[in-house]
Amino acid sequence: MKALVVYVSVHHGNTEKVARAMADALDACLLPVEQADAGVLEEYDLIGFGSGIYFGRHHRSLLNLVDGLPVLRNKKAFVFSSSGLRKVRFVHDFHRPLKEKLRRKGLTVIGEFSCRGLDTFGATRIVGGINRGRPDEEDLRRSQDFAGNLATS
Ligand SMILES: Cc1cc2nc3c(=O)[nH]c(=O)nc-3n(C[C@H](O)[C@H](O)[C@H](O)COP(=O)(O)O)c2cc1C
Repeated sequence: MKALVVYVSVHHGNTEKVARAMADALDACLLPVEQADAGVLEEYDLIGFGSGIYFGRHHRSLLNLVDGLPVLRNKKAFVFSSSGLRKVRFVHDFHRPLKEKLRRKGLTVIGEFSCRGLDTFGATRIVGGINRGRPDEEDLRRSQDFAGNLATS
């Protein structure tokens, strides 16, 4: 199975660390979003899409990439993020917009992963940021375990 991990990581490089750990576990190609397009994605069976969370959703460039895709059949996808705050199902599911877009484009979303990342946006800067040191080794190990399990699903 050919795997690809597409990511955006603009705040502190937090999501890039997670994306790298996942790509290692999957033996996948790792691409920043600006290098990904429909032609590239067509070549893969399993595609991960991840970024930091900005104002309650994934980075606009990642959402735009998916908006611009044709319908893709027979492809599995997974979604990941790093964020300042925890994802709360039903209340604050910041993965939902990206997952819905992927499904509308015919991809089957088979998993999702989220971990905390250093956040110095806004008022958090006053206290030197939140989640200092994150993602940490444990987060990256969990990222790898998550991706490794997808490979066998
Ligand atoms: C402009 C901006 C908006 C953010 N909005 C949110 C948010 O709505 N919810 C949240 O949990 N974290 C938010 N964060 C924190 C980031 O999601 C977090 O720091 C993330 O790990 C950044 O990933 P990156 O370093 O890969 O860009 C925001 C950060 C920035 C800079």
